[in-house]
Amino acid sequence: MTTQGTLYGKVALVTGGSRGIGAATAVRLAREGADVAVSHVNGKEAAEDVVREVEALGRRAVAVRADLAQPAEAAAVVDAAAEALGGLDILVNNAGVGVLGPLETLSLAEVDRVLDVNVRGVFLASQAAAARMPEGGRIITIGSCIAQRVPGPGGTLYAMSKAALAGLTKALARELGGRGITANLVLPGPIDTDMNPADGPYAAGQAAMTALGRFGTADEVASMVACLAGATYVTGAEFSVDGGHAA
Ligand SMILES: NC(=O)c1ccc[n+]([C@@H]2O[C@H](COP(=O)([O-])OP(=O)(O)OC[C@H]3O[C@@H](n4cnc5c(N)ncnc54)[C@H](OP(=O)(O)O)[C@@H]3O)[C@@H](O)[C@H]2O)c1
Repeated sequence: MTTQGTLYGKVALVTGGSRGIGAATAVRLAREGADVAVSHVNGKEAAEDVVREVEALGRRAVAVRADLAQPAEAAAVVDAAAEALGGLDILVNNAGVGVLGPLETLSLAEVDRVLDVNVRGVFLASQAAAARMPEGGRIITIGSCIAQRVPGPGGTLYAMSKAALAGLTKALARELGGRGITANLVLPGPIDTDMNPADGPYAAGQAAMTALGRFGTADEVASMVACLAGATYVTGAEFSVDGGHAA
């Protein structure tokens, strides 16, 4: 078992760690020495694959099912992760849903689902994590570049949900700073995942909106999360990992 890495001895929970940015983040944090819990809602097998990948790096890992749209589960997943791995130092609020479409077509059920997962779930998981985090705790939330610059129509609901995370992050930083806990927000641009495949119907337009002219990879976002997990004097801040989408 390795005893190397800036995060050695730390325990992390990555919500939505079964796929995409969350899976890459779980593995990155493990490479830096953290033990990692990954949550999933439907992707049990994918989450178990990530657990095996983390264990192959010599770290402990556990998969926990939680539908973050359910208030009780958003808090319970934090407790389950901490109980399985013996505490919690790092929460990565990654799980999210993307619902795009013309304003007039978005149903009340869609509005509720997006806000339940992307906003309320993040709030409740952060609340539960803060209640048990020691000094040096880290809350890192995955927002979106769309909260800074909406590139076209169809983003009202998703952009609204991701914009809420900026206020939450700054307020968490102020509230928890006295305990030595930091809160930061990562704003990915177009990242090649199941949610937004680089060969999808709107991919070329998204790539063209970036300065680098391409999609990013999940690992490129994960590297920023790992950096923030190790950063000691950074809080209440936002970090674009968007290939220059906001430039
Ligand atoms: N990809 C992009 O271009 C992009 C850009 C900006 C921001 N983001 C944000 O980055 C984060 C990760 O996105 P991604 O592209 O990696 O997405 P993804 O590939 O669709 O993965 C989504 C993850 O969230 C989990 N999840 C979905 N609904 C959930 C729920 N109700 N409760 C608990 N977990 C749930 C999924 O679990 P299961 O596997 O169990 O379904 C999965 O692990 C999201 O917050 C997203 O908004 C993505």
